[in-house]
Amino acid sequence: MQLVAQESSQSRPASGRSSKLPGMLVLGIESSCDETGVAVVESRGAEMPVLLAHALHSQIEMHQAYGGVVPELASRDHIRRVLPLTEEVLRASGRALAGVDVVAYTRGPGLAGALLVGAGVACALGAALGKPVLGVHHLEGHLLSPFLSADPPEFPFVALLVSGGHTQLMRVEAVGRYELLGETIDDAAGEAFDKSAKLMGLGYPGGPALSRLAESGDAQAFKLPRPLLHSGNLDFSFAGLKTAVLTQAKKLGDQLEARKADLAASTQAAIVEVLVKKSLAALEQSGLDRLVVAGGVGANRQLRAQLDAACATRGVRVHYPELHLCTDNGAMIAMAAAMRLQAGVQATTTVYAFDVRPRWPLAELPA
Ligand code: KG4
Ligand code: ZN
Repeated sequence: MQLVAQESSQSRPASGRSSKLPGMLVLGIESSCDETGVAVVESRGAEMPVLLAHALHSQIEMHQAYGGVVPELASRDHIRRVLPLTEEVLRASGRALAGVDVVAYTRGPGLAGALLVGAGVACALGAALGKPVLGVHHLEGHLLSPFLSADPPEFPFVALLVSGGHTQLMRVEAVGRYELLGETIDDAAGEAFDKSAKLMGLGYPGGPALSRLAESGDAQAFKLPRPLLHSGNLDFSFAGLKTAVLTQAKKLGDQLEARKADLAASTQAAIVEVLVKKSLAALEQSGLDRLVVAGGVGANRQLRAQLDAACATRGVRVHYPELHLCTDNGAMIAMAAAMRLQAGVQATTTVYAFDVRPRWPLAELPA
């Protein structure tokens, strides 16, 4: 388990409403997939909400034996972890449970059973404390996670959202105002990393393992397709790339072991090139000069290096979440809730009946 108590950072103005808003302590619970995350965020008036503490339990080790996430095991583990993590986080933040003003949870998208754990616990806590609850969109959590960093972005910006299940380019005007510019028509970028890694025998989760191996490989070694690179729109497709990696791996046969690092580097180069070029096209098309990169694949070093280099020559600022907040965590859920409330785009509820949204387009969020 990972537990982090944040040094309270200096007050920063948020770009939400500037009216006199009350201080608010938000407890956030994330349980959409294979990480149980809990965090406490405090917002004071119109200032940027501040992360007080967060704790995370990753189920990676448990799922590793199966080569991927087993949904039923994921749900059961969330049940085991969520309350001890909540206690830890409150202790680390120095706040009492009774001091929590809002209990936020991930309502979707994600695994239905896993989401139900977080939603159920959040609504039960809310009911027991007599405090309101708020269901948060997981992708909005990722999208707003760079606001937890010491150098937060300013609206508007282009967002590249690259997670295990989603690859989207968005124009972000303000909290809740998201325009989809393009998205994957099949696999997500994270899936391309994970599936390619799996057929190279790198285990689960494949993205970090493949990118580590790629560091000692030659990215030019194999010619792999750059799907939809010249499609003229901002959509992505990664399913063909995975097939090309499989074909190449089969062709290598006995040689695969010796050439694995080269194949990993070539695969990563193909994914990264498409993500970088499409991001630049989105910036050009929208006329914006700020890019936010969020989601697990945003932790990829090559992607960061190439985006930084390409954006620097174009006068574009790139913002990332802190490295440890790229993948799923409770901090981004508490933060998204605090920012939505602060911006006045969503109200909490004291109706504790809940549902979850395993499939939930970001565009359906109230703005
Ligand atoms: O955002 P996230 O934690 O979960 C979802 O909401 O899906 O993203 C997980 C994805 C996985 O596909 C994982 O392999 C990928 O992010 N990932 C990476 C790296 N770290 C995580 N992919 C490439 N390079 C990395 N360093
Ligand atoms: Zn995620």
